[in-house]
Amino acid sequence: MATSCYRPMILFFISLLGISSLMATSAGNFYQDFDITWGDGRAKILENGQLLTLSLDKASGSGFKSKNEYLFGKIDMQLKLVPGNSAGTVTAYYLSSLGSTHDEIDFEFLGNLTGEPYIMHTNVFSQGKGNREQQFYLWFDPTKDFHTYSILWNPQSIIFYVDDTPVREFKNSETMGVPFPKNQPMRIYSSLWNADDWATRGGLVKTDWTNAPFIASYRNFNADQACVWSSGASSCPSNSNNSSSWITQAVLDSTSQEKIKWVQKNYMIYNYCSDTKRFPQGLPPECSLTS
Ligand SMILES: *[C@@H]1O[C@H](CO)[C@@H](O)[C@H](O)[C@H]1NC(C)=O
Ligand SMILES: *[C@@H]1O[C@H](CO)[C@@H](O)[C@H](O)[C@H]1NC(C)=O
Ligand SMILES: *[C@@H]1O[C@H](CO)[C@@H](O)[C@H](O)[C@H]1NC(C)=O
Repeated sequence: MATSCYRPMILFFISLLGISSLMATSAGNFYQDFDITWGDGRAKILENGQLLTLSLDKASGSGFKSKNEYLFGKIDMQLKLVPGNSAGTVTAYYLSSLGSTHDEIDFEFLGNLTGEPYIMHTNVFSQGKGNREQQFYLWFDPTKDFHTYSILWNPQSIIFYVDDTPVREFKNSETMGVPFPKNQPMRIYSSLWNADDWATRGGLVKTDWTNAPFIASYRNFNADQACVWSSGASSCPSNSNNSSSWITQAVLDSTSQEKIKWVQKNYMIYNYCSDTKRFPQGLPPECSLTS
């Protein structure tokens, strides 16, 4: 088993040498890039593929997934979240592989009463293990306009961005015995569903169905800088081997570090790495790296 882990990485570096060229092309056609997976007509692709909407009512939510699988990438999506009284609703946008030892990189947006703040919940699963939540308020109203939510995933790091501001970094700490997502290709998934048993103020505020249908909107998907997994190999864009590319980026530059500190100081409301009650035997090893 141990040796098989290295195979995708080798294939990955082979593809960096320019052997294959099956890469994601032009940005943003939802017909081309995504399949609607559930919701019985509640998920819609509109405006010639430039806009996608998910809808939730008392009977059902809805969701979609990417046609491609990716192994590493910089992936952007613009979302406009459910406006008004969105309490009880959750809009999830994430990357995930399949199976009980899956990897996953999550954004989840927990709705709220009109005028009260959404919570942006993030998590990273590696080899089936999560429990790495960080939660944030946002510095804008995410229901008024579209904002860009990005995941940069390379062999060194996973970085979550909101409008180009990094909000979270999960570093590869395999040297400390912490598995890192790097061998399992992932698809992009999104869904809008009712989670009023836990989402808003821990489940105290329930979904008000008189406001249904609840609608979240998506546009400007961009995976031009992502490596598409196909026939057992990952194909990266040809410019991804240069030193300023996302794929080789090992650390955040100083401007980005200032930004991530600003977000974490002013907007972070939960960090598993500070939750000593939850980890009485000691915080997870990677927490010694987290700023
Ligand atoms: C990047 O790959 C191209 C071929 O795709 C090659 O010509 C170039 O030398 C490579 N650059 C580096 C820095 O490895
Ligand atoms: C909703 O608003 C309340 C009150 O401001 C706040 O405590 C809570 O964190 C907000 N977000 C969610 C998702 O509960
Ligand atoms: C290197 O990659 C960066 C980021 O993707 C890109 O902006 C730049 O044009 C690339 N440079 C070359 C020489 O390919």
